[in-house]
Amino acid sequence: MSAPRRNVELKATDPDPERSLEVCRELGASDEGTLVQRDTYFRVPEGRLKLREQSPGDAVLIQYFRADRPEARESRYRVVPVEEAEATRHALADALGTFAVVDKERRLFLWEGVRIHLDTVRGLGSFVELEGVAHETSDLSGEHDRVAQLSEALGIDASRILSDSYSDLIAGNPSEQLIAAAREVQERAYAPYSRFRVGVALRAPDGSVHLGANVENAAYPLGNCAEASAIGALVAAGHTRIVEAAVIGDGEEPCVPCGGCRQRLREFMPLDGTVHLLADKGARATMTLEELLPRSFGPEYLP
Ligand code: THU
Repeated sequence: MSAPRRNVELKATDPDPERSLEVCRELGASDEGTLVQRDTYFRVPEGRLKLREQSPGDAVLIQYFRADRPEARESRYRVVPVEEAEATRHALADALGTFAVVDKERRLFLWEGVRIHLDTVRGLGSFVELEGVAHETSDLSGEHDRVAQLSEALGIDASRILSDSYSDLIAGNPSEQLIAAAREVQERAYAPYSRFRVGVALRAPDGSVHLGANVENAAYPLGNCAEASAIGALVAAGHTRIVEAAVIGDGEEPCVPCGGCRQRLREFMPLDGTVHLLADKGARATMTLEELLPRSFGPEYLP
C-alpha cells in the first residue's frame, strides 16, 4: 500500500501543441479533458515533494525520485490524498520552505497505459509529457517501448527532451525566484487583526533580494505594510534602488500595493521597473511602476 509506484517518464518542449493534440486523436488516445493544476514544490533533502491542487479533482501530496536525465527514465512515486490542502500547504511551507510554484493547464490523454500530458505551464510555455504507468511486477521494458512508440508518433526529437522538472525551470527564472521569495515571506507575516497576509520581495541592481511582510499592532494604526518592511530591509542592506518587485497577498485577486506604498516604491524604483502582483490563490498581473502610479511625484522634483 505504501510502497512507491513506478512509471517511465519523458518530458519535452512542444513547439506545436495543436499538432500534438491532432496526433493524440489520430492514435485513438482517450481524451480525459483539461485539468488546471497548481503544484507547490517544497525544499526537501532527497527527491521531490509537491502538493498538487487541481480542478477538477482533489488535492494530493506527491513524493518522487527521478533521475534528472534527458531521456525516458524511471520515476518512483507516492500519491497521498490530502483533505485540507491549504492547511497542508502552509504547514509544509513553514516547515520546509517553498522551492517553486508551478501553475499549468494539462490536457490529459490515455493511450495503452501511457498518460500523455499536453501542458501549458505559466511562465514556461508548452510541453508534452509521457508517463508509462508500470504494473507492480513489470520490468519496465513494455513501458519503455510504448513511451518510445508515442515519442516517435509525436515527433519528439532528442534536442527537445528535458531532464529537469518544471520546478527547476521555474526556480531558474529570476522573476519566478523573486515571486517565490515573496510567497515565502508572506508565510511569516504578522497579521492577526486583518488576517490579510502580504509578502514583498524586492530585487536590488546587484541581483540581491530583500524581503518584508506586513507587521500589525494591537494599536491598529501602527501596523506596517509589507512594502515598508521590505524597503527597510533593502536600505539596511546598503541599497537605494529597486529594479523589480513582487507583492503577494491572500485571496483571489492579485494584491495591489496601497497608495502610500506605491509612493514608497516610487522613491527607489524607476518608472519602468517591473512590479508583479499576485494572489495567494494563483491570479497574477505584471506591470510597470508607472502603470501603478501614473503622473507621480518623485525625488527628481525636489531642488
Ligand atoms: N497591506 C500591505 O502590507 N501592503 C499593501 O500595500 C496593502 C495592505 C497590509 C496592511 C495590513 O496589515 C493588511 O494588509 C490589511 O490592510
